[in-house]
Amino acid sequence: MKSILPRPVLHTAGILMLGAALALCVRGQETPKAVIVTPATPQQLEVQRIGETAIDRLAISMVNEVRSALRGGDPTDALDFCHLKALPTTPGEIISGMPRIMAVKFTSLRIRSHENLPDTSDKAALDYIDQALKNGSDAPGVVVQRIDIPDSQPEWRVYKPIAVLTSCLACHGDPAEQSPRLRNKLQAMYPDDQSTGYKAHEWRGVIRVTVADGPTP
Ligand code: HEC
Repeated sequence: MKSILPRPVLHTAGILMLGAALALCVRGQETPKAVIVTPATPQQLEVQRIGETAIDRLAISMVNEVRSALRGGDPTDALDFCHLKALPTTPGEIISGMPRIMAVKFTSLRIRSHENLPDTSDKAALDYIDQALKNGSDAPGVVVQRIDIPDSQPEWRVYKPIAVLTSCLACHGDPAEQSPRLRNKLQAMYPDDQSTGYKAHEWRGVIRVTVADGPTP
């Protein structure tokens, strides 16, 4: 899986939702203080560029992985490894050639696994996207967030919304259409699963990367 990440990105994966970034600044929750920024300085634009490049690679890998998992015929067999679970976890070594990527997370307002639970800052970004969609706007193509940490460098997070593709429906669509084997295994692994019942093209969640703070120009 890792081997396909460094390959040049030839196209943007279909799951990434397209839309213009909304030029709005909103304040996040109280602690920690998360602020959604519209990148303007070279440093902020670099964070966005690095984050987007990383997420595009992850999205392509994720879609390829889902496709090849489903080629095996039974999605049940893919549950234990799907969604890039085999990625390295050491900060800076998660995506080869991208040392400023410190963390990768898949999260959503409707999660399957507690391990993907959004923290306060993730939730602020998810709510921001949710609100744009509820207002009838396009989902922002990317959200850049700065988290101010007292006496420390800020933490930067970049989020991109992802949509449900037809290939995702096997595991995130109508449970009534799942085989008993798949349904039983999902129920056993994720008793509080909220991630079913989606339809194609709906907003599913985000891919998020944490980008290390860079030198101030
Ligand atoms: C083979 C079944 C399967 C398919 C197909 C599948 N998923 Fe998932 N998905 C899962 C499982 C299992 C989890 C929980 C992963 C974990 O334990 O971290 C999950 C979790 C997620 C999460 C993280 C948030 C959460 O709910 O825990 C997102 C986002 C997500 N899936 C999006 C997608 C998208 C988009 C597609 C299609 C490109 C897709 N999935 C296809 C099984 C699947």
